[in-house]
Amino acid sequence: MPGTWEVTTSLTSHQRLDVLTWINYLEAHLGREAIDEARRRAVVHATPAQHWLRYADAHLAGYAMVSGELDPSLEMAGGGFDDDLLTRVLEIHPQIDWWTRGPQARDSGVDLRTLQFLRVDLPVDLEPIPAGALLRIFDPARDEVAWLEQNNAAFASHPEQGAWRRGDLDARTREPWFDPSGFLVLEIDGVLVASCWTKVHELYEERFGEIYVVSVHPQYQGRRLGRVMVTQGLETLRRRGVASAGLFVDDSNLSARALYDSLGFRLVREDHLTRFTREVRGSSA
Ligand SMILES: CC(C)(COP(=O)(O)OP(=O)(O)OC[C@H]1O[C@@H](n2cnc3c(N)ncnc32)[C@H](O)[C@@H]1OP(=O)(O)O)[C@@H](O)C(=O)NCCC(=O)NCCS
Repeated sequence: MPGTWEVTTSLTSHQRLDVLTWINYLEAHLGREAIDEARRRAVVHATPAQHWLRYADAHLAGYAMVSGELDPSLEMAGGGFDDDLLTRVLEIHPQIDWWTRGPQARDSGVDLRTLQFLRVDLPVDLEPIPAGALLRIFDPARDEVAWLEQNNAAFASHPEQGAWRRGDLDARTREPWFDPSGFLVLEIDGVLVASCWTKVHELYEERFGEIYVVSVHPQYQGRRLGRVMVTQGLETLRRRGVASAGLFVDDSNLSARALYDSLGFRLVREDHLTRFTREVRGSSA
């Protein structure tokens, strides 16, 4: 493959433009997000990160980002795997967790997680709101603290979503795609017990919706509130004119998968997180 991988912790304005163009090009080509939303946000807002770039004939031909300190993880724009990049990254990090999207060839490593991308056609049957419960739109001024509490409790054991702080929420509600009419909360006796946050992906030939985050406080699970929130969230997407919606779910999350399965979601793709370590690779190279 022409060009070598170079690393930098801050992109020049020229590089940043190249990366954004490259990501947009891949997205148009693939018809889906080329890189995880948090990583894209780090490029857009030029926040510090470890960027890997491969130029060939003065054109950017590869981009990847490493993020996280304790267990650093990497994703290459387009969701692929690259042997040369792995070698270079392991010169810096003793261990790296690599996200590949879809059926990509991967070197040998240890599988850590499998994320399923599911999709459903709209509309789906609406689960009625139980008597005494109030479904309403998220109000940042009033709901931030309660939502963080509810969502963190529901995702307590989740590697990315269980420890959100105000800044994580604010960063997303300030994004151009944020639409409060697609962010629903459910109250019972004045307590925020469940929520469903949706998102519309605009920049594709066929616009589509996403269930971005959905959760029910553990004390309220098993009362069909998850079904209420997912179906009502899908309804907000239908009202915004999209014909299908997708979501990501860990393949180990059996309760959520059973819920999505019963609503007609089908598997589109599986993404894998694979751990590579310098020691193992060094001895097998
Ligand atoms: C997934 C989640 C939203 C489901 O909410 P819930 O209110 O507990 O689920 P419901 O009572 O509405 O159940 C709906 C369906 O989900 C499935 N389900 C729910 N709990 C289940 C369990 N413990 N085991 C198996 N299936 C289960 C069933 O299909 C159920 O349908 P049924 O009631 O007709 O049998 C909730 O468990 C949660 O917040 N989990 C943590 C956060 C999370 O994983 N979110 C989804 C990320 S993709």
